[in-house]
Amino acid sequence: MTVPTLSTSDVDRSDPEYRAWLKEAVRRVQADANRSADTHLLRFPLPAEWGIDLYLKDESTHPTGSLKHRLARSLFLYGLCNGWIRPGKPVIEASSGSTAVSEAYFAQLIGVPFVAVMARSTSRAKIELIEFHGGTCHLVDNACEVYEASTRLAAETGGHYMDQFTYAERATDWRGNNNIAESIFAQLRMEPHPEPAWIVATAGTGGTSATIARYVHYMQHDTMICVADPENSCFFDGWVRRDPEATVPTSSRIEGIGRPRMEPSFVPGAIDRMMRVPDAASIAAVHLLEAALGKKAGASTGTGLYSALKLVAEMRAAGRTGSIVTLICDPGDRYLDKYYSDEWLAAEHIDPGPHRAALEAFLAGGEWA
Ligand SMILES: Cc1ncc(COP(=O)(O)O)c(C=O)c1O
Repeated sequence: MTVPTLSTSDVDRSDPEYRAWLKEAVRRVQADANRSADTHLLRFPLPAEWGIDLYLKDESTHPTGSLKHRLARSLFLYGLCNGWIRPGKPVIEASSGSTAVSEAYFAQLIGVPFVAVMARSTSRAKIELIEFHGGTCHLVDNACEVYEASTRLAAETGGHYMDQFTYAERATDWRGNNNIAESIFAQLRMEPHPEPAWIVATAGTGGTSATIARYVHYMQHDTMICVADPENSCFFDGWVRRDPEATVPTSSRIEGIGRPRMEPSFVPGAIDRMMRVPDAASIAAVHLLEAALGKKAGASTGTGLYSALKLVAEMRAAGRTGSIVTLICDPGDRYLDKYYSDEWLAAEHIDPGPHRAALEAFLAGGEWA
């Protein structure tokens, strides 16, 4: 069936032509999920005698290459079922890139235009991916400007501002429906420690950490949730001080995570612990991941992995065994000219060397420096 195009600027919700469009759009999004396989839970090698297993849920294997594929699917279904996404009208999104790549894919799937509003510092590879999926990019000078620019563009075009930073936590089915948490627990079922001591996430919208934390509490698991936060993000201070007004004036260098304001979608009360991770340590950890698994990932993966390794060290020091899960959020080939470029690291005055040496010493001798 082809998607009918309606030229009207607004839509009569009971119009049979609109209802046919809506049904077909929802079918297309659901069919995409039905065709998709689950993402792998990989093991990170740790000395066997430690009795601690570390796993990485590889979200880079989604069709659009990041954990945001899940969120984009949920946001499109939420927007369609709420009657917010309309035929012929653009979907607009404020993003640090990964969500926009996935949303451009779903917009193309249902035949609506897509505009990504992003900071000018967003990696070139992500901009090209958005354009590859038929989207257009509206670049602003500072990450703080994306919200207002998106609201304005939606008003000017009669489009829908998706607003992941508000709706991520509520668009996702946190009780189950094969969400990321349910999938992790199902994949751990035959492991030595099927109930992880910790799950470590990072936060952009905060939607992933909210989904995992809510699911853990709902299923009455003992698992603790840690959110790892990079430099230039207000989430850590806002969580420690219980301050919903916390802000920072600068943009995060770890693409996808770290925000200038406490986003409405970030649910601090559901989280057990936060850790602040230096950017150099995030990048050292992601380089370590490549050496260990032969996989390049984005730097937000390193932020989570660094935190997870610190928790491994704490468990060891306390004489505990068990398992820890963290995420591979997106692939490293999107950032070859950043986190994998000596020139970029030098220009940003980031030296991952000492952190890399400390991590390698920890894996070799068990001592966390
Ligand atoms: C690469 C990357 N990692 C991690 C995250 C964090 O996910 P969430 O938005 O669910 O907090 C994002 C979000 O944009 C991301 O793009």
